[in-house]
Amino acid sequence: MRRALIIGNWKMNKTVGEAVEFARALAASLPDPVGRDVAIAPPFTALYALAPVLRATAIALCAQDVHGEDRGAFTGEVSAPMLLDVGCRFGLAGHSERRRLFGESNEDINRKVKALLRAGLTPVLCVGESLEEREADQTCSVVRRQLKEGLNNLPADDIRRTIVAYEPVWAIGTGRTAAPEQAQDVHRFIRQFIGHMAGNDRAGEVRILYGGSVSPENAGALMAQEDIDGVLVGGASLDVDSFRKIILY
Ligand code: PGA
Repeated sequence: MRRALIIGNWKMNKTVGEAVEFARALAASLPDPVGRDVAIAPPFTALYALAPVLRATAIALCAQDVHGEDRGAFTGEVSAPMLLDVGCRFGLAGHSERRRLFGESNEDINRKVKALLRAGLTPVLCVGESLEEREADQTCSVVRRQLKEGLNNLPADDIRRTIVAYEPVWAIGTGRTAAPEQAQDVHRFIRQFIGHMAGNDRAGEVRILYGGSVSPENAGALMAQEDIDGVLVGGASLDVDSFRKIILY
């Protein structure tokens, strides 16, 4: 049984004060137990302050990015052991904005996934095609390559522990969501491909999230799909009320 997981990706938004205020308000507005897993991915600067606020709640901390090495001369970077140290449980790897705006390759992302696993964090490997790739009928080949190279050389049990987030680039921040059936087709393909890599039993346990303009209006229909095990929410996770509605849909 795959437990639903909802992650709010705040991207480069919210000061420490705003993050703490949001976390308190969200935690107070959720029932106990929530009945599903919830995590927030704030900017690095807010992680340390959020950890004690979230400790007694059902909300976990997720990092938006990580470096592939554990320590060293990498100015500006943050390592997986550091993220564990400030209380993170999850870490995103290969978000499309990192791929597109910061030139991350599948090889870089594979190192990030391995670094997160090494530190005992759960990686959330983000994959997804651009509009041109979708229109050229390349969705499956692009996603297959991102999975194959992103999960390269991982033991099957580490693949089982990894979460995949399917985020079609054309749906991120655009208000254009994939139709639930359209997303389900890609999620089914992802699970089958992970089955090739790690065996069908393990693939059956991997949680596959959908991301891209998720809102309180569409979250329920997306999560009702067989292979959609939760959502990765950007814009709609910045407001307590809309994020709470998505969590409780
Ligand atoms: P969005 O972002 O919900 O604002 O489209 C999703 C994401 O980039 O993770």
